[in-house]
Amino acid sequence: MVYDLIVIGGGPAGYLAAERAGQGGMNTLLFEKRSLGGVCLNEGCIPSKALLYSAKIADNARDGAKYGVDASGVALNHPAVIKRKNKVVRNLVAGVKAKMKKNKVTVVEDTAFITGRSPEGYQVKAGDTVYTGRRLLIASGSVPIIPSIPGAKEGLERGFVITNREILDLEQVPEKLVIVGGGVIGLEMASYYNSAGSQVTVIEMLDHIAGATDLEISQILQKNYEKKGIRFMLSSRVTKIEENAVVYEAGGQTHRVEADKVLMSVGRRPATEGLGLENIGVELDRGAIRVDERCQTNVPGVYAAGDVNGVSMLAHTAYRESEVAVNNMLGRKDIMRYNAIASVIYTNPEVAGVGETEQSAAEKGIDFEVAKLPMMYSGRYMAENEGGDGICKVLIDKQQRKLIGVHMIGNYSSEIIYGAALMIEMELRVDDVKELVFPHPTVSEIIRETIFEI
Ligand code: NAI
Repeated sequence: MVYDLIVIGGGPAGYLAAERAGQGGMNTLLFEKRSLGGVCLNEGCIPSKALLYSAKIADNARDGAKYGVDASGVALNHPAVIKRKNKVVRNLVAGVKAKMKKNKVTVVEDTAFITGRSPEGYQVKAGDTVYTGRRLLIASGSVPIIPSIPGAKEGLERGFVITNREILDLEQVPEKLVIVGGGVIGLEMASYYNSAGSQVTVIEMLDHIAGATDLEISQILQKNYEKKGIRFMLSSRVTKIEENAVVYEAGGQTHRVEADKVLMSVGRRPATEGLGLENIGVELDRGAIRVDERCQTNVPGVYAAGDVNGVSMLAHTAYRESEVAVNNMLGRKDIMRYNAIASVIYTNPEVAGVGETEQSAAEKGIDFEVAKLPMMYSGRYMAENEGGDGICKVLIDKQQRKLIGVHMIGNYSSEIIYGAALMIEMELRVDDVKELVFPHPTVSEIIRETIFEI
């Protein structure tokens, strides 16, 4: 039998592509070597959010006195948190399985290897069976980067150095947790383990945390976490992983920090090895599969969506890319646009942003204007965030007077930011947004308020 589409990888890009292809009437086969749902559902986005929600409940309860609530003796029960997280993951994986069934997708839980091409289509081998598909979608995701620091590999082997996978399943809260890399994974895990009682140290190579986040917001986030007891070692380079310590250099000096566990969160790279891509001539660009705006590779009928194409390594980007790929397979015109993809860090307070930051706009030479307000201008924020220091920042293109960026720190930002993404995607002008009615009282109103500052 020849499938209309073979999908390799069952994460957000792969399972959604299979679902959409099934809905579109394509006879689809999906390979997954670990667990349906991929990194996002099993060892990334979802489990981390389950952990962080438990931490948020504990943090709020500890802060209860500020709100007239007596909740003394609050403790976070880590094993119970992990147990609940596992239940959430199990249910969602079952949900993905059900969707595959509903859309008549054949799922093979095995490792797929592309062997070549025949007149009928592309050939993919798993075990002793060879499958043929008229089209291929590579959605094999990404893997953590392990830098070649002396001791890192050995540390990983003995479970002292861990990645996003193991940190979500630790049986015990480490007394001393050292996190190498102050990006999204590092900060979210610093947040949880700080709430769970670890003494957390974040070692970051750059002079700021949270990567490409608006610099002012990154500094507010850092201050919030320093107040909670997290130590940040910035402009610091890890040089060695020892038996129970991490050695790093900063300002020309060597420092050593003791650890019970070390989380390595210095980025991820596309998972392109061992797939047999070379057997059909798929081109890579700096380790990622090169795709065009339709998510098609250089090989006709072969597409790549999600982290493996390295464009924007986020689950929500993967969703949209997979739809673009499938729409093109079905003969519907569709292309990827990346300028309005929001990014969120689910710390407490949450950080969310979309579009240009002051830094990126300046680098691009855009003539822009910025307006900024404290979140306290929102009544709802004030009512629910005693002493909160969140801000909202809006950037507009001065010539066209349209929105080009919105950045926020403060709770519910993660749920609000899609509205800002919509405004940027629809190229709304300042005057258009001024005419929109936001529900009151909501934290989202801060966007409207900020725009009135322009
Ligand atoms: P990242 O790229 O966000 O951050 C890595 C950080 O490590 C950077 O700040 C970098 O400067 C630093 N770094 C690199 N090498 C270093 C070294 N040798 N020593 C010290 N610092 C070093 O990568 P991260 O946090 O590992 O996340 C990986 C991917 O997972 C991201 O691409 C992200 O898209 C995704 N993710 C997204 C989340 C979200 O959207 N909320 C949450 C978690 C992960």
